[in-house]
Amino acid sequence: MINIRTIRALDWPAIMAIQHECYHQLEPEPLEVMSNKAELAPACCWVAERQGKVLGYLLCHPWRAHQPPPLSVPMQTLAGDEEFYLHDLAVSGEARGLGVGQRLLATALEFACNEGYEHVGLVAVQDAPAFWRKQGFMPSATRKPLDEYGDGAVYMRLPLTEPA
Ligand SMILES: CC(C)(COP(=O)(O)OP(=O)(O)OC[C@H]1O[C@@H](n2cnc3c(N)ncnc32)[C@H](O)[C@@H]1OP(=O)(O)O)[C@@H](O)C(=O)NCCC(=O)NCCS
Repeated sequence: MINIRTIRALDWPAIMAIQHECYHQLEPEPLEVMSNKAELAPACCWVAERQGKVLGYLLCHPWRAHQPPPLSVPMQTLAGDEEFYLHDLAVSGEARGLGVGQRLLATALEFACNEGYEHVGLVAVQDAPAFWRKQGFMPSATRKPLDEYGDGAVYMRLPLTEPA
């Protein structure tokens, strides 16, 4: 049985190991940058675990729309709350295809809806744009280049409410 819960201090070694395993087209973010997100937005950074083992994580925080944050730089403050930003979703290789990514995303979307956000944003990297399209996200314009996110990175958004 897979359980989703907010991150605890003891989860970071497992989270960092999954990050190192998952990203090959961009530099992994250091621990202080990863944990900075959970310090600023502790209610919306989650892990998926099974029998005490962390299988995946999703780090989110409020952010300004159409301007994704720089990578590998700790945030001093949250730059706006125009959208609910999914900073990093990763699932360990051994747990792929079990619905862990979808379960983490469902938790985030429910949280964002309850908090009154109208949009969710993210930068899809590596081969993940197809995953996000499947979840309803569509490419959207950005006001800054996404070079540091690697080749083929795409800023994508999902509306949470129907337009009036
Ligand atoms: C992308 C990722 C998070 C998906 O996690 P996962 O737990 O394997 O995904 P799920 O099992 O919840 O899959 C949900 C659906 O998406 C599909 N899917 C999963 N990865 C996909 C991909 N890369 N491209 C297209 N579809 C994908 C699954 O087949 C499944 O489809 P179904 O509902 O029709 O059965 C995982 O592959 C990963 O960690 N990748 C490396 C890190 C990464 O790129 N993260 C995204 C950063 S933007």
